Amino acid sequence: MNKKKEKQDSVFNSRLGCFHDELRWLYMELYDNSSMFAELCDNLYDFYKERSNDLKERDLKRVERPDWYKQNDMLGMMFYIDNFAGNIPGVEEKLEYLEKSNINYIHLMPFLETPEGRSDGGYAVSDFRKVQEKLGTMEELEHLTAACHKKNINVCMDFVMNHTSEDHEWAKKARQGDGEYMDRYFFYKDYAIPEMYEKTVPQVFPTTAPGNFTWLPDVGHYVMTSFYPYQWDLNYKNPRVFNEMMYNFLYFANHGIDIVRIDAVPYIWKELNTQCRNLKQVHTIVRLMRLISEIVCPGVLLLGEVVMEPEKVVPYFGTIKKPECHMLYNVTTMATMWHTVATRDVRLLKKQLDIVNALPKKYVFLNYLRCHDDIGWGLDYGTLQCEGIKERSHKHYLNNYFQGLEGNSNSRGELYNADPVTGDARFCGTTASMCGIEKAGFEQKEEDMEKAIRLDIMLHAYLFMLSGIPVLYSGDEVGQVNDYTYKDDPNKADDSRYIHRGTFPWHLAEQVDDETGVAGQIFNQLGRLENIRKSEKAFVCQADTWTIDTFDSSVLCIGRHYEGEKILGIFNFSEYDKTAWINEADGIYMDMLNGQKMKAVGVNVPAYNFLYLKREGSDEKV
Ligand code: GLC
Repeated sequence: MNKKKEKQDSVFNSRLGCFHDELRWLYMELYDNSSMFAELCDNLYDFYKERSNDLKERDLKRVERPDWYKQNDMLGMMFYIDNFAGNIPGVEEKLEYLEKSNINYIHLMPFLETPEGRSDGGYAVSDFRKVQEKLGTMEELEHLTAACHKKNINVCMDFVMNHTSEDHEWAKKARQGDGEYMDRYFFYKDYAIPEMYEKTVPQVFPTTAPGNFTWLPDVGHYVMTSFYPYQWDLNYKNPRVFNEMMYNFLYFANHGIDIVRIDAVPYIWKELNTQCRNLKQVHTIVRLMRLISEIVCPGVLLLGEVVMEPEKVVPYFGTIKKPECHMLYNVTTMATMWHTVATRDVRLLKKQLDIVNALPKKYVFLNYLRCHDDIGWGLDYGTLQCEGIKERSHKHYLNNYFQGLEGNSNSRGELYNADPVTGDARFCGTTASMCGIEKAGFEQKEEDMEKAIRLDIMLHAYLFMLSGIPVLYSGDEVGQVNDYTYKDDPNKADDSRYIHRGTFPWHLAEQVDDETGVAGQIFNQLGRLENIRKSEKAFVCQADTWTIDTFDSSVLCIGRHYEGEKILGIFNFSEYDKTAWINEADGIYMDMLNGQKMKAVGVNVPAYNFLYLKREGSDEKV
């Protein structure tokens, strides 16, 4: 027993030994408080001691194989627990369905205690140690993560660290005027300082929650609320806030969470006269988190939610020597893809992919077609400007297109946070609805339906070809359409993001074996592509990925190469048959879906269709 303990301690001590100096240095730089640092280190050891042997073993295996998450079988799916399966034990019952869908990483959308009607989809946490009653218990969560691990499924959760709910114990104490707790937030007795902040800080929800401060008449103070008024920003200048939030993070790591999605990470440090976004202290905090996880739970990955332009996103990977997040969302590529759908012009997307593909292979992006949030039109307007396309009118066009009001569009969906002052608006809708499946189904137009399904599948085929890890939003695999019932719920009616967060249609999932139906066609075709991806090493994250000119502005070609093997993906974003004028004359290629052999020279691609081509033989043989 003692020997075992000694061995365990030595693992901890050697990790601490590796990272202690940097940890201390960064901590002192932020807080200059050695007793709080000592408390942090004591707690790291306690969390390590409490970590189960199974999880410790998982850590060790992952440390030995640090590229474990960059493999070609990684496929994520995100869902709200209640929408997907009612509650946590319900999710456990659905693991077989997830396996059938080739999923080996699930992102459980926020499931912690949150006040009904003031929850922002669960992103207003009132208790970091309690699961929402309707969803289950912490024990059930632990049971689920263990069951997932047995099936090689990784579990991701949101760690909402920028703010707490106004119902959180700290907020309640602050509200009673307890100075110690007021110091954990940003309280101001008059508007002087808030006014200064408002001069430089943009708004997150300009129409649904304007401004960055909320007046609390009962306390006679303003409190900083960058998101909704019931989400109070935490003050990370206070080391107590940092330490306690790190303990919450480790608590979940010890409950078997493999991937921690750091919600709204750019916002966590505030300074007057700045935008309060992406400040250098945010990077210090993320690096501290990374060091903490390397010491206590090195099998756990950090996923940063940075919904910003590419030059702001990439720094969250840190440097090669001092990494921060393991993975980041490829948000600009996502938005640019929908721009491509609406314009049938792949040039901006190609440019965007060239930027991403030129980054070090160590940087892993999560690619997705859509998520639980709106699609913001954060495109490279500098480049579009050269084509005579102006930001404001283009956003207007995209929003009209996807509402089905302009252009040759069968899309359905709704605007989000339409700002009458700036004319800006974002967009909400499921992938299937944005591809035209909802409209074609409603109007019972077979030809339109066929086209919509093709577009939907082509977009997934494109997604799987990108460098990084693909993540699906649950329901997209069976062509789930928009859900308008949120309008009947007064707690949701103002937030159109609920249109694409509907209850999972199990009746469709039960029909997937019928390949004539919409769900069956999408599900099985995605399955084929997922199996191809899993069996071809050119799909690993470390593969070289690049774009190839097709001399047709509607056709995108992506190449992948790894250990001598080469694959091409060709995607036609238009409703017309096209020819990709590529000239990859380095051998014979095989169509991976039908086995047909061909030269990769002047390849025909039918409307809204795609090809996956694999070069025969490896480098040496051609
Ligand atoms: C993240 C979430 C979003 C939420 C916000 C505030 O951006 O994705 O849904 O509204 O954080 O927590």
